[in-house]
Amino acid sequence: MSLKRNKNCGIITKKNNGEKVVVAGWVQGRRDHGGLIFLDLRDRSGIVQVVFDQDKNKSFFEQVEKIRPEYVVAVEGTVVPRSEESVNPKLDTGEIEISAENLEILNASFTPPFYIENDIDTDENLRLRYRYLDLRRPEMLEMLKFRHKVLLETRKYLDGEGFWEIETPMLTRSTPEGARDYLVPSRISPGSFFALPQSPQLFKQLLMVSGVEKYFQVARCFRDEDLRADRQPEFTQIDMELSFLSREDIMSIVERLVKHLFLEVQGLDIDIPFEVLSYREAMERFGSDRPDTRFAMELVDISEIAAESQFKVFQKAIQGGGAVKGINATNCGRYSRKEIDDLTLLVQSWGAGGLGWMVVTEEGFRTPIAKFFTPGQLDLIRDKFAAREGDLLLFIADEYDKTLDILGQLRIHLARREGLLSSTEKKFLWVVDFPLLAYDQEEKRYSSVHHPFTAPLEEDRALLASEPLKVRSQAYDLVYNGVEVAGGSIRIHRKDIQEEIFKLLGLPEDEIEEKFGFLIGAFQYGAPPHGGLAFGLDRLVMLMANRKSIRDVIAFPKTAAGNCLLTGAPAPVSPGQLKELHISSALRDTNKDKK
Ligand code: AMO
Ligand code: AMP
Repeated sequence: MSLKRNKNCGIITKKNNGEKVVVAGWVQGRRDHGGLIFLDLRDRSGIVQVVFDQDKNKSFFEQVEKIRPEYVVAVEGTVVPRSEESVNPKLDTGEIEISAENLEILNASFTPPFYIENDIDTDENLRLRYRYLDLRRPEMLEMLKFRHKVLLETRKYLDGEGFWEIETPMLTRSTPEGARDYLVPSRISPGSFFALPQSPQLFKQLLMVSGVEKYFQVARCFRDEDLRADRQPEFTQIDMELSFLSREDIMSIVERLVKHLFLEVQGLDIDIPFEVLSYREAMERFGSDRPDTRFAMELVDISEIAAESQFKVFQKAIQGGGAVKGINATNCGRYSRKEIDDLTLLVQSWGAGGLGWMVVTEEGFRTPIAKFFTPGQLDLIRDKFAAREGDLLLFIADEYDKTLDILGQLRIHLARREGLLSSTEKKFLWVVDFPLLAYDQEEKRYSSVHHPFTAPLEEDRALLASEPLKVRSQAYDLVYNGVEVAGGSIRIHRKDIQEEIFKLLGLPEDEIEEKFGFLIGAFQYGAPPHGGLAFGLDRLVMLMANRKSIRDVIAFPKTAAGNCLLTGAPAPVSPGQLKELHISSALRDTNKDKK
C-alpha cells in the first residue's frame, strides 16, 4: 500500500472542507454517471462518498470502472462540500464528499452472498458460514465494539474495587456444574482425559485459600448440554470470588458493577439496590425462579374457595395435596373460544390436565364452570383477582409445584402475546434462599440445585441430617427481565460440612477422595470464608444490546445444533491422530453403544 491512510471515513465532516485526506476501506456501492463515478467507501467508522472525475482522473479512471462492491481501495483526495441538492442527511458525512486525486486498489472481492448492510433477513446459517462478511456489517461491528466496552468497563470497575484478574487452566479435571463435560484425550497418559472447565469454580475457591481475597476472570466455559436461544456450548463468564465478605457485601459489589456498566457503556442510570425475593416468594408470586417483573399478572391462590366448590377437577387437586391457582389475564376477555382452546392445548403440552377459565362481563362471569360455584364464591374470586370487566381469569389445578410452574410459563406467554415486555424497562432482582438440594426421582438420590460447594443457610444446617430438602442455601441469582444473568453463592469452607454434603449427594468416599481430594485437602490448610458469583457475559450483553439471541453478540458462535458452520467443526480426524491419542476408533465404540 503506497497511499498511507490518515483519516477514517465516517468522521469526515464539513469541518474538514479543503483538507487533503487519504481514506481506505471497502466499497459499499458504486454509481456510474458517465464521466463521473461515485464510490461509497466504508470502514468501521462509517461511510464517505468519493467522487472520481474522468477529466481530472484520466490516468486511472479505467481502473475506477473496474471496481465492484467490497473491493478494498485507498483514495487520496480533497474534502469538498456537496451541492445543496446532493446533501445526504442520513449520513454523518452527508454534507461533504472526497474529490479523488489518487487511487490504489488494494484487493478485489467476489460478489458477497448477501448485502453488507444492516437489517438483512438472510438465513442465519448463511451468515454464520460467511461470518467474516456478516461481522463486516455495521450493526455487527457495533456489537463487537459494544461487547468490548462492557468488558473494558468491567475490568476498570473490578480493578478499582481491588480485584486481580487471574487465569485458571482450560485443561483440567471435570467440574460438577451439572452439564456434560467436553473431554480432551491425553496423548502422554493413555486412556486419561482432561475436561474443559464448565466454570473455574474449584480454582477460584483454591485462589481464596491462597490468599488472593478478590479474584476475577473473563472465563471461557464449556458445557455439553442441549442448546437454546440463550445457551452456547462455549460461553463467557465474568467470574468472581471474594474472601471475608457476607452475601450482602457480595451482592452490593455486583449491583455497583451493573450500575457502572450501564452508566459507562450506555449512559443509563440503574437504581440500586435491587429488589430481593426469596425463591419461595418468586415461585408463589410469579411461578418462576427467574421472574420477569416488567408486568404484574401475579399468581393468585384460590385453593380454599376451590375446595368448597362443586367442581370435581378442583376438589380432586386439593384432596391430592395440590393447589388451585390462577392469573388474571387483564383485558384478555376478548379472546375467542378458539383462542382459549388453543391456550388449553398449550398448557396441556406443558403437562397440565386442563385450563379453567372465566371471562368477566357486564352481566357477571362467562365460563363453563360457573355452575360449580355459588354467587358468593364467584364474588370472592373476583375480589381476589381484582378482576374487572374485560378480564380473563385462567386457572390451573394440579400438584403444587406443577401449578406454579405452568402458570409461570403461561404468564410469560401471555405477556409476550399482549406486548407487555417493554424493551426499555430494566428490571433487576435477586432471588435468594434457594433450596440447597433437589431429589432426583430417576436416580433416587439428592442433587445440588446450584453446585456442591454452595453453603447451606446457617439457620437450616441442623436440618441437613433430618430433612435435607428443607435446607435453604446461601445461593443468589441475579435476574434481569426474566433472564438469569448471574449466579453465585457463599461457599462451604469447612472440610466437615463439605464432606457431609458430598455424602448426602451419594458420592462414595473413594470417589470423593479421587475427584475432590485436592479441594478438601486445601480446606484443611486455613481456608477463609468465601463466596462469589459469575455473570453470563453473553446473556448480559445480549440483553443490554436488546438482542434476541446470544449468537448475535458472539463473534464466532455455534449453531443451535452445536456446529461451527464457518470452520466445519466438529469434524472427523485422521486415524493417525486417533492412534496417537490411544483411541482405536471413535466409530467402533459408537457401534458398541448401539448394540
Ligand atoms: P452458573 O452455572 O449459574 O454458575 O453460570 C453462571 C452464569 O453463566 C450463564 N450461563 C450460560 N450462558 C450461556 N450459555 C450457557 N450454556 C450458559 N450456562 C450458564 C448464566 C449463568 O447465570 N461456577 C458458578 C458460579 C459461582 O457459583 O460463582 C456457575 O458457573 O447467565
Ligand atoms: P372437563 O371436566 O375435563 O371437561 O373440564 C372442564 C373445564 O375444566 C375445562 O375448561 C377444562 O380445561 C378445565 N380443566 C380440566 N382440568 C383442569 C385442571 N387440571 N386445571 C384447571 N382446569 C382444568
